[in-house]
Amino acid sequence: MAKAKSKMQNAKIILGVSASIAAYKAVEILRSLTKEGADVRVVMSAAAAKFVTPLTFEALSGNPVYHTLFHAQNSAEMEHIRVAENADLLLVAPATASTLGKMAHGLADDALSNLYLAFDGPTLIAPAMNEGMWRHPAVQENIARLKSRGVKFVDPERGELACGTTGPGRLADTSVIVDKVRNYFHRRDDLDGMRFLVTAGPTHEPIDPVRYLSNPSSGKMGYAIAAQAKARGGDVVLISGPTSLTPPSGVSFKFCKTADEMNGLVQEHLQDCDVLIMSAAVGDFAAAELKKEKIKKQGADGVVLKLIPTKDILLEVAQRNAGKLVVGFAAETQNTVASAVEKLQKKHLDFIVANDVSAPGIGFQSDANEVTIIDRDENIESLPRKSKLDVADILLDKILARFKNSKP
Ligand code: CTP
Repeated sequence: MAKAKSKMQNAKIILGVSASIAAYKAVEILRSLTKEGADVRVVMSAAAAKFVTPLTFEALSGNPVYHTLFHAQNSAEMEHIRVAENADLLLVAPATASTLGKMAHGLADDALSNLYLAFDGPTLIAPAMNEGMWRHPAVQENIARLKSRGVKFVDPERGELACGTTGPGRLADTSVIVDKVRNYFHRRDDLDGMRFLVTAGPTHEPIDPVRYLSNPSSGKMGYAIAAQAKARGGDVVLISGPTSLTPPSGVSFKFCKTADEMNGLVQEHLQDCDVLIMSAAVGDFAAAELKKEKIKKQGADGVVLKLIPTKDILLEVAQRNAGKLVVGFAAETQNTVASAVEKLQKKHLDFIVANDVSAPGIGFQSDANEVTIIDRDENIESLPRKSKLDVADILLDKILARFKNSKP
């Protein structure tokens, strides 16, 4: 049987190498990428050549290596720009704290940092550094800044570091990095033509002019789904309650505060979508009466508030039987799977994504999540802890498979 052609065949990849002891692992990465047919151009930071010679990369890639701004051939700088213009993906592996800082702040004093500014395509970064440097707020802030621009990361592993300590900071296994690249090309534009309606974040249900009822949802899961659906070629409308996040670029963004407003927006946009993903933590209760003036303390007895249920958006969608592929979320604190299955049936969902929000390090505010995805045939898949972006990709893979199957 003929071997399936890798989607990396003829992919134009720039491999950025910076001055880390792990630079030698970039050689392995280069070999794996070229083995799958990718056309790789290597660009090195100023000091990277002290760890591995440009000649090694040149010989293995079969392409010139850019490692200085002031090349003997004076057209080298322009050549960089041409490389940037034609590339499909920039992979920086390993990325040092210094290279991350330059990328985050737009500094350009060597070949790699220049190229990053000239390149406006997807970027994947695999950092490697000492544990203390990795944990430093300056580095973490730079990472957050790059992530907010849509740059993706392959986080370093825990392990023995070159400086003799053990902790997070070691370059991710090269096979994990290559896998990320492979997945990128495999999923590129696979959602082209699909229209997604995604909800995210909490809702605010006002009590009086200065107070509201809400929950700790950060919106990160929904924003990750919207970002990945967009990055993979989908059309995305993101309806969000109040969060501190920047909407992913290219999505059509609709802001709302209350469950009622969110419901209005969902019903308004439902007709124009193929897939509805309700990842918002919609408030279940609103104050029966919205006080016009601020409620005063009124002595020591406190205040009794009457709460009434909000509309269940998903139930309403199910009742309209709109023929859409519908995904719900279930934030649980006990009997996670059983409760989720109940919601899946009650709300006529195609998928439900369940997680235990009481578990430490995952859920509401975190960048990671540990979820169980259940489909309408009640096939249950529990995923290990992953970044919310990875969870989003896996969920989108499942949605795509079902979407293709449901087409006549
Ligand atoms: N949901 C909704 N409208 C609401 C409340 C929830 O559409 N008013 C959606 C959520 O976006 C989520 C799913 O329903 O996709 C399940 O939400 P969850 O809060 O876990 O469950 P509830 O159905 O509200 O039930 P309970 O709070 O009793 O667990």
